[in-house]
Amino acid sequence: MQVIKTKEYAEMSHVAGVIAEGLIRQKPNAVLGLATGSTPLGLYAHLVKAHQQNGLDFRHVTTFNLDEYLDLPKEHPQSYHTFMEENLFQYVNISSEHIHFPDEDYDAIEENAEAYDARIHRAGGIDLQVLGIGRNGHIAFNEPAEELAFFTSRVTLTPSTREANARFFSSVEEVPTHAVSSGMGTILQARHLLILANGEDKRDAVSRLLDGHTLTTDCPVTFALMHPHVTLIVDEAAAGC
Ligand code: PGA
Repeated sequence: MQVIKTKEYAEMSHVAGVIAEGLIRQKPNAVLGLATGSTPLGLYAHLVKAHQQNGLDFRHVTTFNLDEYLDLPKEHPQSYHTFMEENLFQYVNISSEHIHFPDEDYDAIEENAEAYDARIHRAGGIDLQVLGIGRNGHIAFNEPAEELAFFTSRVTLTPSTREANARFFSSVEEVPTHAVSSGMGTILQARHLLILANGEDKRDAVSRLLDGHTLTTDCPVTFALMHPHVTLIVDEAAAGC
């Protein structure tokens, strides 16, 4: 695992942005795995700027988002469809046919757990998977539990995650209780994992990853230790130094 320690959020985002931009320039039909949440906002701003000012071309790029809430219309201001539209897609020349979210396969996933994963596979697999870390160590909505799902599936959000996400809703009760999330296998099959973490509340999860000794379903991000190509970019607050 390559660990890049940065001073603060802006530098973390810049370094991540340079990596993602470099991939798209080198492989114009790159397949990106995308995350939502506050963490990747600076990375998406970098990509928008690269498109608007330096001609970064998204025409042949394909994206697969990690997760989406269930029981929230995709037009809802807090849906991940809306998040991606507002922070990246509306500003770049990506084709709507190349954008994928797991909830669109929800019926198929109910019948066949491998549906979303099969679609990723047909697209050639994910070249670069962007990941934030939950303060409880989750990746996508793979919450700490005795068992973790391999394929994309319907998940129940933990109180800690609903509380963390309540800042985007008017109350914690409004945060959906369920989501559809890429599984651990879905994520770990990406060719390169780009994990970003900033801020003190990520320190515990980051230290379990940096410690590098234990894989535990109690902290799902530790499974990234199994992956041959991981870049972890952290700021000082998350790294604890
Ligand atoms: P955040 O969420 O980027 O808003 O901190 C990360 C996550 O929950 O995976």
